[in-house]
Amino acid sequence: MSRLERFTYFERVVHWTLGLSFLYLLMTGLAFSHPRLFWITVLSGGGQTARFLHPWIGMLFSVSLGSMFFIWAKDMRLESNDREWLMAVRAYATRQKDGVPPAGKYNAGQKLFFWAMTVLGVVHLASGIPLWMPAGVLGIGPFYGGTVNTMRLLHYATTLGGGGLLIVHVYLGTVAYPGTLGAMLHGRVSRGWARLHHPRWEKEQAGD
Ligand code: HEM
Ligand code: HEM
Repeated sequence: MSRLERFTYFERVVHWTLGLSFLYLLMTGLAFSHPRLFWITVLSGGGQTARFLHPWIGMLFSVSLGSMFFIWAKDMRLESNDREWLMAVRAYATRQKDGVPPAGKYNAGQKLFFWAMTVLGVVHLASGIPLWMPAGVLGIGPFYGGTVNTMRLLHYATTLGGGGLLIVHVYLGTVAYPGTLGAMLHGRVSRGWARLHHPRWEKEQAGD
């Protein structure tokens, strides 16, 4: 078979639910964070609508993050080979292919991105709830002014971290490496792409 299946339909639906909900939260969240940015809410039906939808889209984001975790966590475990890959990250960034140890289905950078987004997602949820329901929820709370302010700061700092990582992720998944976006759109990649970026995974698929 000249093309390999990289992501199932279900994995792609989960990933794009996560991706689109994250972009919506990023956009509306930044709009809430400074009066000068509030105009951004126009793109989402106005301030009231955005304020109402942001936490609910946050719930959608959290559910898809949880699903992604259960589907992919097994493949994202760090192995001894990943340490070597990280040591050679400079060669990867400067496209010196021969200096990069062969990666499996995911390279160490992708694995670390997965774990970082998981942790940041949990912090987003945990800090977003006191902002949403300051009177308390499920017997936890009420959250007083100091706590709410700390959570607001945490929520905002997490957004800056997640937003920064997302820019790198989108760059690597689209313009930097042609053929990668197709993996997440229609699920398949060419053998050449797999051999170049994930040679150990390509070998494992040899029987297909
Ligand atoms: C996961 C569940 C989430 C919940 C329940 C939630 C809830 C909230 C609430 C209630 C606010 C306050 C809105 C206001 O009244 O001004 C807020 C603000 C904000 N949210 Fe979220 N959010 C969540 C996830 C996210 C995510 C994933 C992002 C980023 C991608 C994000 C970015 C922001 C930002 C930047 C603010 C403005 C913080 C500030 O006041 O400086 N949120 N969020
Ligand atoms: C909205 C813009 C996004 C685009 C264009 C995008 C694109 C992609 C592409 C093309 C892949 C496949 C990479 C491969 O086959 O090696 C991928 C994988 C992945 N995406 Fe996204 N993604 C986006 C948003 C997100 C968000 C918001 C998250 C997490 C919160 C996320 C988490 C992941 C993870 C964990 C993987 C697997 C490991 C990796 O390739 O880094 N993505 N994405």
